[in-house]
Amino acid sequence: DGVTVIAHPLVAHKLTIMRRKDTSTKSFRQLLREIALLLAYEATRDLELTSIEIETPLTTMQAPTLAGKKLVFAPILRAGMGLLEGMLDLVPSARVAHVGLYRDPATLTAIEYYFKAPEDMEDRMVIVLDPMLATANSATAAIERLKQAGAKDVRFVCLLAAPEGVARLRAAHPDVPIITAAIDDHLNDHGYIVPGLGDAGDRIYG
Ligand code: PRP
Repeated sequence: DGVTVIAHPLVAHKLTIMRRKDTSTKSFRQLLREIALLLAYEATRDLELTSIEIETPLTTMQAPTLAGKKLVFAPILRAGMGLLEGMLDLVPSARVAHVGLYRDPATLTAIEYYFKAPEDMEDRMVIVLDPMLATANSATAAIERLKQAGAKDVRFVCLLAAPEGVARLRAAHPDVPIITAAIDDHLNDHGYIVPGLGDAGDRIYG
């Protein structure tokens, strides 16, 4: 019902290393990039195809090719940038919309500090990226803003989600499927996912 948890041994293994508090910034960043590639594979499963005629060395054939306009990755700054690199490894011609939001530590509301999206958002698949879905304040605000900019076909990709965040994002944007590597136990009083992996932005960038 709109929520996909990726059950893949490589994703599970890499995520376990990322959760460990002794894992270095360098390893964390590398693992996030690797997992992003696997998440992108899942998130783009229903991209539309069309058919073109090509010549192989032996003959001509009708072959599948992506239809429509280039898709858009929309990382939520900062931590979303960590997912972007792996996604671009898989889809190098994708466009990128940057959404700058930070959580006010006291109220946990999302505050916008930057927004820049490519043209023709209405005609493109938009994949919103953020490693963490905690209260869902950030994801909800980012998707709202992207819809204002014209986005219609939106999905949300994260690494870790809290059950509270999944429920809130589904309620706020029922049209937006969620793809995640895991759903953890709960949110603590500070809005951190438990057991989680700490603050993703800090673990990637310090
Ligand atoms: C963290 C995280 C998400 C957001 C998730 O960002 O990277 O963007 O919180 O929480 P939410 O679902 O409760 O909104 P933070 O504000 O720490 O900024 P950063 O990515 O720049 O570190």
